[in-house]
Amino acid sequence: MRFNRREFMQCALAAGVSMGAGSMLGACAGVRRLDLPQQPEALRANPALDESRREILYHAALAPSGHNSQPWRVRIESTDEWIVEADPERRLQAVDPDNRELMLSLGAFAENLSLAAGAVGYDAKIQVVAKEYFDRDVIRVSLRTDHPNPYPLGRITRRMTARPGYRSDEIRAADIEALRAAADGRLFYFPKSSPHADRIRDGVVECSRIQSLRDAAQRELVSWLRLSDRDALEHRDGLTAEGMDIQGFKGWIVRHFIEPENFMKTTFRQKGIDQTARLAAQGGGWLVITSSGRTVADLIEAGRLFERMALLTRERGIGLHPTTQILEEKHGIDLFASHHGSRVIPQFVIRVGYLDKYPEPVSLRRPVEWFAPYQQFTHMS
Ligand SMILES: Cc1cc2nc3c(=O)[nH]c(=O)nc-3n(C[C@H](O)[C@H](O)[C@H](O)COP(=O)(O)O)c2cc1C
Repeated sequence: MRFNRREFMQCALAAGVSMGAGSMLGACAGVRRLDLPQQPEALRANPALDESRREILYHAALAPSGHNSQPWRVRIESTDEWIVEADPERRLQAVDPDNRELMLSLGAFAENLSLAAGAVGYDAKIQVVAKEYFDRDVIRVSLRTDHPNPYPLGRITRRMTARPGYRSDEIRAADIEALRAAADGRLFYFPKSSPHADRIRDGVVECSRIQSLRDAAQRELVSWLRLSDRDALEHRDGLTAEGMDIQGFKGWIVRHFIEPENFMKTTFRQKGIDQTARLAAQGGGWLVITSSGRTVADLIEAGRLFERMALLTRERGIGLHPTTQILEEKHGIDLFASHHGSRVIPQFVIRVGYLDKYPEPVSLRRPVEWFAPYQQFTHMS
């Protein structure tokens, strides 16, 4: 591990002083999305993708995904016919054994893709072709030049999962109405003061505890940690120190001296549980997004609705934090079933709250050519 004494001194100093610390904290920062070029020069550009089509895929891939696993691959069948595949190498077997969350993430990817296509002058027809949760081919995309639908791309580039610093005031009715409309009415808000919110908070904390103590789940989390700058640059996915809000001097220490394997230790697991409890106590309540059924198409639709809603939150100063453990562990699944029966199908449980200072996105993404590599067209239209 490379130890840079000057960088260390700057970081340590910035952590210890208040005046002028901001400028020095830059020296402590880890790899952040905005520091990286969209397309590393060494990569051979995919000749099937002109600039507009590359832009569409670049924005699609800014979608959120569990552990930032980015479980998508794109097969370019012809210039305007693409297949979005589920990447089996990027499954989260321990926490998402059925691929439910993987499909939600592909739904968010499809939504960004469709909106970005509109922004650069195309209409993208999105057709779910998968029938089973484990099908490889999930979505067929057909690009056409009719009916473009302009959309501000800045909403996509600046959307992020924000975690600390939520205010405790409840979300205004007008904001909830706007988010609910974007989610086609499938969004429910439980204000902080409601008994429901207390039950969700307690469920989230308990499920986080259960999951942290489940070795397979913790081991899977460890496999997606990209703590050193080197790992972050090599993979451009997963959870970086910056992405987990470990910044400044603390971030510097973690990036240089902590191995992902340390997260298997009891002390680290306990820190994670404590952090979840602290965060769960912050904010103005909880959002739940439901689906109308359990088919693959229903999951893709739920992912699209989540993303459409999430894209509106920054301009309203609202932070969103999916807290999925409650839908992954039996304790949480039973909790929802006991209060709502089987007719209500929750797909996202999200902590929500106003932020005084909205951070800029830091989570990394793989360049387009990594997930849409050049192949000879498999079919010509
Ligand atoms: C299906 C799904 C489940 C997620 N679950 C969690 C979660 O349980 N806890 C969490 O902190 N973030 C969760 N996230 C957020 C991801 O960690 C986040 O999207 C990813 O790290 C990329 O960061 P970004 O959203 O800022 O671009 C989830 C996202 C999705 C789409």
